[in-house]
Amino acid sequence: MHKVIFDTDPGVDDAMALLFLHHHPEIDLLGITTVFGNASVETTTRNALFLKREWGIDAPVARGEGRTWNPMRNPVDWPVTIHGDDGLGNIDVPETIDLPVDPRPAHRFIIDTVKANPGEVTLIAVGRMSNLAYALKEAPEIAGLVRQVIIMGGAFDVPGNITPAAEANIHGDPEAADVVMTAPWKVVVVGLDVTMRTVMTRKMLADLVTRGGERLKLLSDISQFYIDFYGRHVEDGMVVHDSCACLYLVAPELFATRSGAIRVVAGGIADGQTIQKPDGHAFPPGNWDDIPSQQVCTGIDVDRAMALLRETL
Ligand code: BDR
Ligand code: CA
Repeated sequence: MHKVIFDTDPGVDDAMALLFLHHHPEIDLLGITTVFGNASVETTTRNALFLKREWGIDAPVARGEGRTWNPMRNPVDWPVTIHGDDGLGNIDVPETIDLPVDPRPAHRFIIDTVKANPGEVTLIAVGRMSNLAYALKEAPEIAGLVRQVIIMGGAFDVPGNITPAAEANIHGDPEAADVVMTAPWKVVVVGLDVTMRTVMTRKMLADLVTRGGERLKLLSDISQFYIDFYGRHVEDGMVVHDSCACLYLVAPELFATRSGAIRVVAGGIADGQTIQKPDGHAFPPGNWDDIPSQQVCTGIDVDRAMALLRETL
C-alpha cells in the first residue's frame, strides 16, 4: 500500500488526480493539504472539502497558509481563465461546505503525519511547493523520514506555460520550489515535458461518465471550462497534468527519467525556470556541488498511462 499526502490547489486537473488517488486500490490517502495556486487558499480549501463530500473521501483536509516563501512575492495571480473564478470550472460550488478542516496548518499536518509513519509516506505535490518548504523549515528531519516526493511542476526541455521559461506551479513560489528540490530527500519531477502529452479527450470523458455514474458526471461538469481553455493547445480535450504525478507513484515503469541535481531560478526574466545538471557533467567547483541528484521525467508511455488513468477513474 502506498501512503500518500496529496498537496494540491484544486483546480480541475487536481480534482481528477484526487479521484484517481481515492479509487486506486493500492493507495492509502492519509490527508489532503491545500495551497494557493489555481485560486486562493480559501477557495482551494473549500474546493477540497466539496470534492471530499461529493466523492465520499475519508481523508482529512488541512489548509495551507497561503503565503509564499519570499514575503515580497504576492500570491494573488489566480489563473481564472483556466480553472474558472471558483477554481472548479464555474459550476456553482456552494460558498461554504459543512465539513471540519483539520486544526493544524498544512505544513504541521505534513510533519506530524510523516513522523507517525517513518519511511512510508509519499508526498505528491501538484500546486505551489510552499507547504512542503515550510514543513522542511520547521522540521528538517522529515527529509530523512519521507519515502519520496513526487512533484507536478517545472519544464526542463520544453517551454513553460506561464512564461517561456517557467511552469505555473514553480513560478508561483520559486524560492519554495528550490528549497524542496535541493533538500536531502528523494524527489521525482513530473513536469510539462511529459504532462503536455497526456490528453483526456471529450470522448474519453463522456465514456467515463457512461461507465462511472455520478462521480464521473461531476468530474466531467467541472472539466468543461478547462477543456475549452485547453482547446488552444490540444485537440478537443484536457491535459491531465496532476494525474501524471499520481500515475508515477503506482506505475513508474511507464516513465523515462534522467538523474541530476535540480535548481530553480528566482528573479529576473527566467523567474521560476527549472534547471537540471545531468549527472556526469563536470563543471568548475560551484554551488551545485552538494545538491542531491533527483529524477526528472523525460518520457511517458502515453497510451498505457491514459489507459491506467481511465480504468482507475
Ligand atoms: C499546473 O498548474 C495548474 O494549473 C494545474 O493544476 C497543474 O498543477 C500545470 O502547470
Ligand atoms: Ca494543480
